[in-house]
Parts: sequence; structure tokens; C-alpha cells
Amino acid sequence: MIYKYCGHSGVQLPVFSLGLWHNFGDVDDYATARDMIVYAFEHGVCHFDLANNYGPPPGSAERNFGKILKEDLTGHRDEMFIASKAGHEMWEGVYGDGSSRKNLIASCDQSLRRTGLDYFDVFYSHRYDGVTPVEETMQALIDIVRQGKALYVGISKYPPALQQKCYDILAEAHVPCLLSQYRCSMFDPHAQKNNFQVAADNGSGIICFSPLAQGLLTGKYLNGIPEGSRAARKEGFLQESQVTPERVEASRQLGLIAQERGQSLSQMALAWLLADKRVTSVILGTRTLDQLKNNLETLNNMSFSEEEMSRINAIISNPDIWF
Ligand SMILES: NC(=O)c1ccc[n+]([C@@H]2O[C@H](COP(=O)([O-])OP(=O)(O)OC[C@H]3O[C@@H](n4cnc5c(N)ncnc54)[C@H](OP(=O)(O)O)[C@@H]3O)[C@@H](O)[C@H]2O)c1
Repeated sequence: MIYKYCGHSGVQLPVFSLGLWHNFGDVDDYATARDMIVYAFEHGVCHFDLANNYGPPPGSAERNFGKILKEDLTGHRDEMFIASKAGHEMWEGVYGDGSSRKNLIASCDQSLRRTGLDYFDVFYSHRYDGVTPVEETMQALIDIVRQGKALYVGISKYPPALQQKCYDILAEAHVPCLLSQYRCSMFDPHAQKNNFQVAADNGSGIICFSPLAQGLLTGKYLNGIPEGSRAARKEGFLQESQVTPERVEASRQLGLIAQERGQSLSQMALAWLLADKRVTSVILGTRTLDQLKNNLETLNNMSFSEEEMSRINAIISNPDIWF
């Protein structure tokens, strides 16, 4: 594994982290979830990305993760960096959603109980909810740290107009923003253009989610929608309508370049994200142990020639394939 310092902090993170949004809920196979978490940890993936609502059902990914920690990885807590988040709909009533102080503080407590942890290494505001003043949300994060429930804080998906304000409030309280989490992939260049530089300028680490565009950058949709794939699953967030002919064709063309490089399309797409030196870590979202093993083999070939980069850019600069 390769580790990178996270922004201006003293914390290092693996360049590949493991995310539990899909594939670790009660609807998924527990033994596979356990095998992936244990394999990841044993291969240097010591950062795990959770959120209150991951499952389904919501909360079950945190519960399953806690069980696996207790049963299979006991004694290793201090070798791990564990994240959770609050901000998306989680429980009934007006306090179960959004970025209010009420939601964040209650949710952090619930997440600690579900995972059985004493504290999170990083706790995020999962999103700007369009209403709550960022002063309120950032103060809740600061207080979560002051209460000893998290060591660091992060923001996720915050729009560029509010990012700087978040960094300023957090810095003033001496609880700097450790991580800024954004969706980013060859099919989604927006955060690279709009959010990364302000994060880097403020000393925040950058961590990318949905690096394979939920599977579109694996080549699996070249001949339709395979059974069991995210686009085929009713609980999957990738909609059939997002598997467009333009994206499928782009993934076919990118796959040919990957083949010349002696790696899979997934591996090339992951390496491409880390070619941006501002990025600290990329969150993998695997469904099977083989997918995880395959993705970690990316580490064998992470560099690109200028010619490869310009051929890739020619394909991915087409706005029709962007999310
Ligand atoms: N902050 C936020 O709001 C936010 C939002 C979304 C995600 N996240 C975080 O980011 C993590 C990753 O997101 P993601 O799951 O969307 O990542 P992703 O890598 O874009 O998509 C994961 C899916 O890609 C497919 N895949 C992965 N590796 C493969 C391989 N080697 N071969 C074939 N298929 C492969 C699998 O699809 P199939 O299931 O079809 O096999 C897998 O379920 C999440 O778990 C979560 O921690 C954060």
C-alpha cells in the first residue's frame, strides 16, 4: 500500500480506502462483507468510510462493520481510521434528515452505538442541505470533536461557494477540515475543476467517491446490464437510464487503452484519479473479494505517459458522458 499525508495534517491515509455505501448492508452477503473488510485491512487499507444511512436498511452497514471489527479484527482499532457521516435522511421526523446541529449530534451518538466504537477518526457533514447555515453545521462538528466523539472532521459534497466558509470556521476553532469528500471519476470532472484547489489551498485532504462511476468504468455494461450488477439491483443507486450508449462506448474505448497498459479498465480509472497529486485517497466500493483484489492491483501500474493522458482526455472531455 502507498500512504499519503492528508492535507496539512500529520495523518496518513492509504491511497485506497474501503467504502460501505453498497454491499455491506443486511441485504448483502455477510461472509463476503467480512472477507472484504478483513482482506482490505490485511493489505494496508486501514481507512473505512461509513455513514449513518449506509445499508440497506439504513444503519445496517455500520452495525455489520462493528460486528466484524469485534469478531474478526479485535485489538486492531488503533491501526484503523474510521469515518462516519450524517446529513442524509436517516430516521422518522424532522430531526432525522439534514445538516442541523440536532441531526449531527444525535446521529453521531447513534453511529457510535451501532458500530460499538468509542469515537470516529473523522466525522463528516454528509452534505449541505440547502437551508442550515454552515455556521451551525460546522459548530456541531467542532463540538463533536470537543466532546471526544471524533478526532477530526470533514465535509462532503459542499458546493464551491460554501467550501471556503467551512474551512474558515473550522480553522478559527482550531479544528481544521481534515478531509473534503467529492464524487470524482473519469466520467465526473466537476469536483476536480470546482472543489479540489480550494480544498488543497486550505490544507484539506481530498478523498474521491464513486471512482468507477458506480461500475460504469469497469466495462461490465458493454453488452447490456448483467444480473447482480448495481444497475440491475433494485436497491442500487445506479439507474438503468444512466447506462447510456455514450458512456458504454467511452468505457469500451478507454478499455482498449487500459489493455495496452496491461491493466483492467477499473485499474486504469483508479490510477487516473491518483495521478492528480491533490488527491489523498480514493474510496473503493467493491461487491466481491475478487473486485477488491483486482482494484488493489492498481498499485502495480500507477503512472501514465503524456500520450496516454492525451488519448484518455480526448475520450473523457465529451460532456455527453459526464454525470
Ligand atoms: N460522500 C458521499 O455522499 C458518498 C456518496 C457515494 C459514495 N460514497 C463513498 O464512496 C464509496 C465508493 O462509492 P461507489 O461504491 O459508488 O464506488 P465505485 O467504485 O464507483 O462503484 C462500485 C461498484 O463498481 C463495481 N466494481 C468495483 N470494482 C470492480 C471490479 N474490479 N470489477 C468489476 N466491477 C467493479 C461494483 O459494481 P457491481 O455491484 O455492479 O458489481 C461496485 O459495487 C462508497 O462505499 C462510500 O463509502 C460517498
